[in-house]
Amino acid sequence: MKILVIGTGYVGTTTALVFAEMGWKVVGLDTDAHKVDQLTKGELYFYEPGLKELLVKHLKSGQIMFTTNQAKAIQENDVIFICVGTPSLNDGNADLTYVKQVSQDIGRYMNGYKLIVNKSTVPVGTQEKVTQWILRSQAASYPYDVASNPEFLREGKAMEDSLNPDRVVIGATSTKATKMLQTLYASVQCPIVVTTPRTAELIKYASNAFLATKISYINELSRLSDKLEVDIKEVAFGMGLDQRIGSSFLQAGIGYGGSCFPKDVAALLRIAKDNNTELQVLKNVVEVNETQYLYMVEKARRRLGDFAGKKIVVLGLAFKPDTDDIREAPAIRLIQELTVGQAHIKLFDPVAKLPSYLKNSNIQFMTTPEEGFKDADAVFICTEWKMYHDLNWSMLSKQMKQPNIFDGRNMLNADFMKSLGYYYQGVGYN
Ligand SMILES: NC(=O)c1ccc[n+]([C@@H]2O[C@H](COP(=O)([O-])OP(=O)(O)OC[C@H]3O[C@@H](n4cnc5c(N)ncnc54)[C@H](O)[C@@H]3O)[C@@H](O)[C@H]2O)c1
Repeated sequence: MKILVIGTGYVGTTTALVFAEMGWKVVGLDTDAHKVDQLTKGELYFYEPGLKELLVKHLKSGQIMFTTNQAKAIQENDVIFICVGTPSLNDGNADLTYVKQVSQDIGRYMNGYKLIVNKSTVPVGTQEKVTQWILRSQAASYPYDVASNPEFLREGKAMEDSLNPDRVVIGATSTKATKMLQTLYASVQCPIVVTTPRTAELIKYASNAFLATKISYINELSRLSDKLEVDIKEVAFGMGLDQRIGSSFLQAGIGYGGSCFPKDVAALLRIAKDNNTELQVLKNVVEVNETQYLYMVEKARRRLGDFAGKKIVVLGLAFKPDTDDIREAPAIRLIQELTVGQAHIKLFDPVAKLPSYLKNSNIQFMTTPEEGFKDADAVFICTEWKMYHDLNWSMLSKQMKQPNIFDGRNMLNADFMKSLGYYYQGVGYN
């Protein structure tokens, strides 16, 4: 079987490379010629640990190539993975424009049996829509199957997650499609859930919404912990040892972000609304998340007073470490809130770039984390990059006008920071 991956973004590039690593011949197709050009040169245009090495390896081995030639790519491959974006519309619905476009291209150019596999995160019922879109755009009648195979990788751990997933979910309507997908994933050591496309589509949203719920739960609890003078990190540790709960996604912080959780939670709420169902828990998950960064800003306001003219170091822009993805990053909203108050921001992130909409005279992007500390009134940690542990905090405290630290990821040791003379506030941890 020869594989075509349509859309070489985070998911598509990872999927393509991981299938190449499993020994399959893969073509990556994108409409963005610049991305295709860079990938063809062995340059990964986004930051993701370990992926560039895999790219270089499989360009050399000949297992992978990238193209913008839709007709040729569709005609020469048997299994077609759809990995295009499904961003949020204003009403919370997932925008299926790209999925529809790709489906129509497949219909137009197909020249024999194709298995079309949707990896993009899409509303329940999309497999049926894709089937129809292909049918209506076919130039001649060729057989095909459309399956759902949602992706669960985490940015920052994409390669690891794709090579060693917890599970593979296959939603298919024919035995032929199921068997082909089982063969493609034969080398993966994990349970393979075979189900209907609608169930597969809901498993994806339900999983992300549950993880977002865990985060908002611990974040809301962190506010109570502050009042009770209880350390939320210890609470989370004690809870997480219970196997029914588990320790992951129980770290209090300034909220979740990224390209998936906010939009997937919004989409699930929309799906529920369209089906006359209230998801009360999930509504509150969103509300807690939308106020969590403000909770930290208020802590700073109580300490610093008016932000006007205050010099504030912000460490971390991306929504989590080991990625340069800043989509829906809470750091962005926090910075915007501080600049509305006329603070002067000295921002650093090791890999993320300052987006154009944040460029203004009150935000300066630093080339090292230490650069902005001179005469600073406070430091905010928004992304828990390991390198921040290793900063010479003792020396930096002496450079600051007031050594205040607001640790939005509870990554530093509160007692140690206080011993260095810092006023330290974490999230439910002081
Ligand atoms: N990023 C994640 O961590 C993650 C994890 C799991 C699932 N997902 C889901 O996977 C999907 C893709 O996410 P992503 O982060 O990789 O998106 P992305 O925006 O990084 O990449 C999408 C790519 O599709 C390309 N594209 C758009 N229309 C095209 C067309 N007609 N033909 C060919 N290429 C086209 C774009 O140029 C882009 O390169 C989304 O539905 C997302 O929700 C993402």
